[in-house]
Amino acid sequence: MSRRRQIYEGKAKILYEGPEPGTIIQYFKDDATAFNAEKKGTINGKGVINNRVSEHIFTLLQQIGIPSHFIRRLNMREQLVKQVEIVPIEVIVRNYAAGSLTKRLGIEEGTQLPHTLIEYCYKDDALGDPLIAEEHIACFGWASQEEMQDISAMAIRINDFMAGMFGGIGIKLVDFKLEFGRLFDGDFSRIILADEISPDGCRLWDIETNEKLDKDRFRRDLGGEAEAYQEVARRLGLFPEGNVSEVADLDSERKKRGK
Ligand code: TMP
Repeated sequence: MSRRRQIYEGKAKILYEGPEPGTIIQYFKDDATAFNAEKKGTINGKGVINNRVSEHIFTLLQQIGIPSHFIRRLNMREQLVKQVEIVPIEVIVRNYAAGSLTKRLGIEEGTQLPHTLIEYCYKDDALGDPLIAEEHIACFGWASQEEMQDISAMAIRINDFMAGMFGGIGIKLVDFKLEFGRLFDGDFSRIILADEISPDGCRLWDIETNEKLDKDRFRRDLGGEAEAYQEVARRLGLFPEGNVSEVADLDSERKKRGK
């Protein structure tokens, strides 16, 4: 890995220059942060699971016509993606009340929303990713109106698909976060899905018990976070080569030994 030029290190991923121009390698770390990195920790095997879960979801989304930066998974912790210019907006899609929505508006956690709610946050760690209105996006030129139409239409289609996919394996899709990027072709650009979709950026509850199977286990010190990520991967039928926890743990051990 040290051979490659590092472009950026984020909280959960490292980006390296890809083998061809216009490509990037996304490396998934086990590091976990919450509350704008005030809380830091690691979730053993998380990087391996998120790499695989995100590959799975992006591949299925491409099959239903959602364009994305995903090219292919390279190994346990890395995937090759197209280089994009990230739109500085976090798109939050909500089906049930949880997290900041419950705090901001006093709505009880778990309340089913009358319809899917899309929120936008301005991607700026120093400001703590503040909630913004579409008017701010237009006013400050963070995305054009046409781009916002593409983004919101894709977000709704992604939600419909994912709610069905998770519903089929006994998981309630409470909310999730998406990021989009601009793929340039000469002077023109189009919006494609970027970043990752994994239990780091989704709220996933067991349909029967409402048990949390996502990063809220870490955020709220509930324990069992590695097991929750493994359970999501297991229900999605990933890691056919072996037991999820063994595969992810083995890789984490290998990483610690620096191999
Ligand atoms: P929130 O309720 O804290 O606003 O989060 C909504 C969803 O977005 C939740 O599934 C977690 C995800 N999310 C991220 O992926 N990154 C973030 O920085 C934040 C604040 C939320």
